[in-house]
Amino acid sequence: MAKLLHLQASPREGSYSTRVAAAFLDSYRRERPEDRVETLDLFQAEVPLFTAPEAKAKYAVMSGEKPRDKVDAAWRAVIQTIEHFKQFDKYVLSCPMWNFNVPYRLKQYLDVIVQPSLTFTYSSEKGYQGLVTGRPLMLILARGGIYPAGDPRQTFDFQETYLRSIFGFIGFSDIRVIRIEGTLQDQPEQIEAAVRRAIAAAIAAGLENST
Ligand SMILES: Cc1cc2nc3c(=O)[nH]c(=O)nc-3n(C[C@H](O)[C@H](O)[C@H](O)COP(=O)(O)O)c2cc1C
Repeated sequence: MAKLLHLQASPREGSYSTRVAAAFLDSYRRERPEDRVETLDLFQAEVPLFTAPEAKAKYAVMSGEKPRDKVDAAWRAVIQTIEHFKQFDKYVLSCPMWNFNVPYRLKQYLDVIVQPSLTFTYSSEKGYQGLVTGRPLMLILARGGIYPAGDPRQTFDFQETYLRSIFGFIGFSDIRVIRIEGTLQDQPEQIEAAVRRAIAAAIAAGLENST
């Protein structure tokens, strides 16, 4: 039995990224009914804040110390969030583009889980190394505009580039992407066509990921 974590980063009713993720998960579940699939809705979940004590703990760990007292308590909440994240074998992230990047609740979650000695390490010989390895990640990305490869508009796409970089940093190398683009254009039939294409890709990917 494999465990799959779905991180849901859109708070919107009728969200396109959530809808396409649901198509992926339906097709996945049909093939692998015995697997455990958990959705973490990042706008509903209790994600720890990352404030002064957590930052102090991070710097302590980076310099090889053990966080103490209040700082230690803050760090324990971070560790729990990371332990939960690392339990899974496969990951799906459904995410809207907000201001050319990701919504702040996802950024908060990433600021919590990207931590020294827990999800990455550093040594002068080997540099930075990710610790969350050997697991596939499917990114399902919705955006109001269109950011074609090689077009000047692509330079505004900090959503996909950031997600590929940050998950790559903590060890993910098998990262696939389904995009739902142009969701704010004024031709509803074109939006539906983009959603249909993304859903077809998600159903195929759900089957593929289940092997
Ligand atoms: C706060 C906010 C900021 C947004 N910023 C952008 C943006 O920078 N570029 C863009 O193409 N679309 C932007 N959009 C539009 C969303 O990316 C688009 O509606 C997308 O479909 C949202 O994903 P969802 O349907 O899964 O919620 C923004 C929407 C919101 C609510």
